Amino acid sequence: MTKSSGMSQRTSNGLHAAIIMDGNGRWASARGLPRVAGHRAGAEALRRAVEAAPDLGIGVLTVYAFSSDNWRRPQPEVSALMKMFHIYLRREQAKCVEKGVRVSVIGRRDRLPRLLLPVIDECVSATAQGGKLNLRLAIDYSSRDAILDAALALKGKPTREKLSEALGGPDVDVLIRTGGEQRLSDFLLWECAYAELIFTPVMWPDFKASDLASAVGEFHSRERRFGALPRAALA
Ligand code: FPP
Repeated sequence: MTKSSGMSQRTSNGLHAAIIMDGNGRWASARGLPRVAGHRAGAEALRRAVEAAPDLGIGVLTVYAFSSDNWRRPQPEVSALMKMFHIYLRREQAKCVEKGVRVSVIGRRDRLPRLLLPVIDECVSATAQGGKLNLRLAIDYSSRDAILDAALALKGKPTREKLSEALGGPDVDVLIRTGGEQRLSDFLLWECAYAELIFTPVMWPDFKASDLASAVGEFHSRERRFGALPRAALA
């Protein structure tokens, strides 16, 4: 057994929180609104989470904005989401610079709308100096594909550390999924090896800074053992 265990790539700069922002569609349907209205309200919820994250000790926030399986949704919904990413990145860029938020995008680029790519590039480079929070947007993202690609690109003897590094992000400390479902849906599978999982019935558009604070509080209340014995038993 190698010595890395799940502790490789621990975040040095605050917690790594990851969020599966689920429930937009149900939130909208419950109000007699089109699903897209739920995504729009979801974008506002994301803005609130980004604003709240640094004060909660979060240094890296990775959010599942569009999975590689989401291409199977009706074309109008997919188009609306792509347009929303475009608008969000353009609209939030200046505020991210001002607040020290570095934006990164993970996932495949080759299937994204051509016009979205320069908007992503500009936002990523304009915010590159942000030191308060790294906001990672997962768009056309599949964790299985990311792991496969990273593994195939490894040089020499494969190790856990090399693979973690090739994946480009730190291990997740806490994974939150809203909307009541309790699964990972191909999100950060390698990085979540030792993540604390928090599932909440709150629909993503209703998710508030206080919900994020509760999740972080719940994370701190748990004892992370990384396969070892409880602290009390080691004393
Ligand atoms: C899952 O809810 C949500 C998505 C597939 C899209 C996530 C997108 C946003 C939160 C929009 C804002 C993001 C950015 C980056 C601007 P769902 O549609 O599966 O909800 P349901 O399970 O209730 O149908």
